[in-house]
Amino acid sequence: MRTYLVTGGAGFIGSNYIHYMFRKYGDEIKIVNVDCLTYAGNLENLKDIEDRENYQFIKADICDREAIERIFAENDIDRVVHFAAESHVDRSIKNPDIFVRTNVLGTQVMLDSAKKAWELADGSFMADKKFLYVSTDEVYGSLEEEGSYFYETTPFAPHSPYSASKAAGDMLTKAYFDTYGLPVNITSCSNNYGPYQFPEKLIPLIINNALQGKKLPVYGDGKNVRDWLYVDDHAKAIDMVLEKGKLGERYNIGGHNEKQNIEIIHIILDTLREMLPDSDPRKELVRDDLITYVTDRKGHDRRYAIAPDKIKAEIGWYPETMFEEGIRLTIQWFFEHEEWMKHVTSGDYQKYYEEMYSSK
Ligand code: NAD
Ligand code: DAU
Repeated sequence: MRTYLVTGGAGFIGSNYIHYMFRKYGDEIKIVNVDCLTYAGNLENLKDIEDRENYQFIKADICDREAIERIFAENDIDRVVHFAAESHVDRSIKNPDIFVRTNVLGTQVMLDSAKKAWELADGSFMADKKFLYVSTDEVYGSLEEEGSYFYETTPFAPHSPYSASKAAGDMLTKAYFDTYGLPVNITSCSNNYGPYQFPEKLIPLIINNALQGKKLPVYGDGKNVRDWLYVDDHAKAIDMVLEKGKLGERYNIGGHNEKQNIEIIHIILDTLREMLPDSDPRKELVRDDLITYVTDRKGHDRRYAIAPDKIKAEIGWYPETMFEEGIRLTIQWFFEHEEWMKHVTSGDYQKYYEEMYSSK
């Protein structure tokens, strides 16, 4: 039985990935989920799988070398899928320290621990082991022109403390392949959306605010472009790269779904109105005039667009979920998980929201 060590599995993409893997492989695999449960980590995301015999949750910080080495020593890990990170650009602008700690130093601890566990006496590595670093398209910086895309060969030009810290983790991963031969892959993915996404990110924030008749904050002119991918498609891509990716290679993952932020907001409002029955009192709260242009994000990247040609040609992955379908699935999930939203938006979230948006 193959054992996967998933870091950050209590977060948005990590928990969707764990669900995807159990749906696909059932009892054929074991997953060890290592997460220190920051504000973004939520064990409620994993409620329906937590009792599985082939699943184990370990609360640990990826910067804690002793704890991570112990996890490798106690489990025969075959695959590392390294999601754990501080992931929100706005938070990185306010407090870069924690981003460098987790995304750079934590990644180095993960790489060192995998190397220590998998390296043989002659400096080669055990067969059939792999470390996958979940990177982001933000390492490539920003595109201006329509028609230009991020390729795997696009030079790095990160702008925010978040993307700079992810780029450092990304480059360290490649360095461990180039220097020691650690078996790695790197995936650079565009913006994800779907179930369990924390409502500091654009799509769940707009859904949550719209259903409560709250202002819908748009940074700058609202014309920044992101390339949206349904989270299950990302989970599938990671699985396929682990299975078929050539060692040491990077693969871009993207949805071929570029949209301006203001378009996304209008699609959400229209879809909410269409999906809510007339009898639902929230329907009246969903209003276009709540769209509010606010101060722009500092250093706001203008446009991201991924060329997923390599992963399609070499691995056979392509985005399957059209945005129109993915956004309906997402909204339906939020309709059915009001309690989840209530829990994650109580307490600290209120404080964050007031601090982040009162100055805008
Ligand atoms: P998230 O913020 O929802 O989840 C991050 C998880 O990591 C949380 O469960 C948190 O508790 C955990 N974590 C944070 N610091 C930790 C530490 N020191 N030790 C152990 N666990 C820790 O993030 P996400 O949106 O699910 O993103 C997951 C990964 O995917 C990140 O590496 C991110 O850079 C990358 N990524 C995200 C997107 C996106 O659109 N969300 C796109 C491309 C790449
Ligand atoms: O591209 C991949 C990246 O996508 C990941 O690496 C990051 O972890 C993930 O957070 C995401 O980063 P973004 O900054 O693109 O996502 P966010 O949802 O924060 O913002 C999306 C766009 O919407 C961006 O242009 C900023 C804008 N925005 C965001 C918020 C929260 C608004 O206009 N208003 C808002 O209130």
